[in-house]
Amino acid sequence: MRDLSLHWPGAALVALLAVAPAPGAAFYFPGVAPTSYKKGDLVPLYVNHLTPADSANDPKLRSVFSFDYYHPPFHFCQPDNGPEYVRESLGSILFGDRIQTSPFELKMVENQTCRVLCSTEKFPQRDALFVNSRIYQDYDMNWLIDGLPAAQHLSDPSTDTAFYSPGFALGQVQDENPEFNNHYDIYIDYHEAGPDNFRVVGVLVEPRSNQYPSTPSGNDCNSIDRPVILSESEDNDPVIFTYSVYWRPSPTPFATRWDKYLHVEDPKIHWFSLINSAIIVIFLIGMVSTILVRTLKKDIARYNRLDQLALDDFGDGAVEDGVQEDSGWKLVHGDVFRPPKNPLFLAVLVGNGAQLFMMVGLTIAFALLGFLSPSNRGALGTVIIVFYTLFGFIGGYVSSRVYKFFHGESWKLCFFYTPLALPSIVFSVFFLLNLFVWGRGASGAVPFTTMLILVIIWFVISIPLSFAGSWLGFKQPVIEAPVRTNQIPRQIPPSGGYLRPLPSMALSGILPFGAIFVELYFILKSIWFSKVYYMFGFLFICYGLMIMTSAAVTVLMVYFLLCAENYHWQWRSFFTAGASALYVFASALLYWVKDVSFLSWTSGVVYLGYSLLLSLLFFVLTGTIGFFASGLFVLKIYRSIKVD
Ligand SMILES: *[C@@H]1O[C@H](CO)[C@@H](O)[C@H](O)[C@H]1NC(C)=O
Repeated sequence: MRDLSLHWPGAALVALLAVAPAPGAAFYFPGVAPTSYKKGDLVPLYVNHLTPADSANDPKLRSVFSFDYYHPPFHFCQPDNGPEYVRESLGSILFGDRIQTSPFELKMVENQTCRVLCSTEKFPQRDALFVNSRIYQDYDMNWLIDGLPAAQHLSDPSTDTAFYSPGFALGQVQDENPEFNNHYDIYIDYHEAGPDNFRVVGVLVEPRSNQYPSTPSGNDCNSIDRPVILSESEDNDPVIFTYSVYWRPSPTPFATRWDKYLHVEDPKIHWFSLINSAIIVIFLIGMVSTILVRTLKKDIARYNRLDQLALDDFGDGAVEDGVQEDSGWKLVHGDVFRPPKNPLFLAVLVGNGAQLFMMVGLTIAFALLGFLSPSNRGALGTVIIVFYTLFGFIGGYVSSRVYKFFHGESWKLCFFYTPLALPSIVFSVFFLLNLFVWGRGASGAVPFTTMLILVIIWFVISIPLSFAGSWLGFKQPVIEAPVRTNQIPRQIPPSGGYLRPLPSMALSGILPFGAIFVELYFILKSIWFSKVYYMFGFLFICYGLMIMTSAAVTVLMVYFLLCAENYHWQWRSFFTAGASALYVFASALLYWVKDVSFLSWTSGVVYLGYSLLLSLLFFVLTGTIGFFASGLFVLKIYRSIKVD
């Protein structure tokens, strides 16, 4: 069940494309080719940032900040010539990685016990305060050895399987005392691929807290006298950092070394949610197709028959009245293609939504094909940026065509707002939140140079592409409305109940949200706990279900709206589908109430800020889906009736 759940959609797709490598064959994606070591070769250990983690006994999120490994208050040992940054991709940096060199010396297949790394100077009380509060907040250390994260060995109680959970504790709280880990037992699984050809296939670290009375050697590291508890009321004695390395032979080949890291927590939940949303979708699609096929056909047949009758007995008032009295969507044919209020704004939103839609879809598809496996660090972030940039073209094209359909006049504004409005909002919020992180002194803030690179990419590639797309869309012929629009707008009869804007949004927004909320929960969790997300098979299906639900529910709502002789479907469809973003935000708040307990208000601000940003993007994305679904629907039904 577990393996199936993780792999089948991906496997099916890969097999479909007939690029499936034979099992065990050496087939690697770029950047993740195996490194071979000879006996005694130095295997570098890189250190990454410290991140808040969910420990088993306290699964709450206590902070949203991450810290550089060499943040001075930690007093971690540095290499002789000072640490150096390891080259990383843009996506990796954006997602928080800060990988640096370390003074550990690991030699392939050579066990070492109790090596002293370094000893700090006196440990000032101010720094002790800092370290202790990080221990209370469950911070994890993140190391990388040959591209593999140093992990903790955990077992999943629900399925009783053991797995490697990346990261290990900075310290632990025992009897109300924060113990600072200063000894690391490093267990490295290696695989012998050939004679004197070794590969790293697994890394576990068991940290310990050990207050050494004198410089340790031999077995001293294992005999714990008392733990290191840093006093916050006076300066502490120096802390000695030590480590041991144990190499363990393993049958796992290099190609599958990530499998034990990619553990699906409780796959039943994912399946349950999938089946659940599939049922909703089937139900909705059933309802929509009933309406489309049965009701509409009947409507159209009746309208056309009445037309015929009216022609036959021209001048017979009774039949005319019959049509007039008959309420229905045909009555608004002279208004349904009347441009909405603020057409520019809607066109820009829809263009941006199309851009997001393409980006998300293609990113998930790419991930499903295995291009974004976690071994390819930062690939996910990089691909998101690349796709978003390139699809600026689509954004421009779509907004321009929609604007033309709305008979828009302010062309230049449409050209400019499409690539500028939403991205600058997103970027400003991102920038402001980063200021907060800077101000906090946490080093998880995105470096200024990375920000600059983003802005340059945006201005040099994305905006010109969007202009080109807008130009192309502008040159296309206008999408013809099948019926003429009357001079004078029709009166809209008051409608009540679920057709009023707020109830209709609340009702219909919950369905697309229902399709994705379980995956959303896991995505949020992996973002806040800086863990890789890899359940792309599930996400792919959920995304598909969400699209179908958004489309179906909006079409349904628009049909009822038109039947109530309300022809303002454009904004309404956008808001109806987009309303699911409200639920996304509500679920972020619920997560806060349930699983988050921040010790500082800055964490809260950053959490809220990113939740709002995510909800905004979700609003634009789902709103666009709703708008296009109902646009197609409206065009289709009015094409099928005859209007004189
Ligand atoms: C290194 O230590 C591990 C774990 O204790 C042990 O299984 C392995 O045999 C040792 N290797 C050598 C070369 O001593």
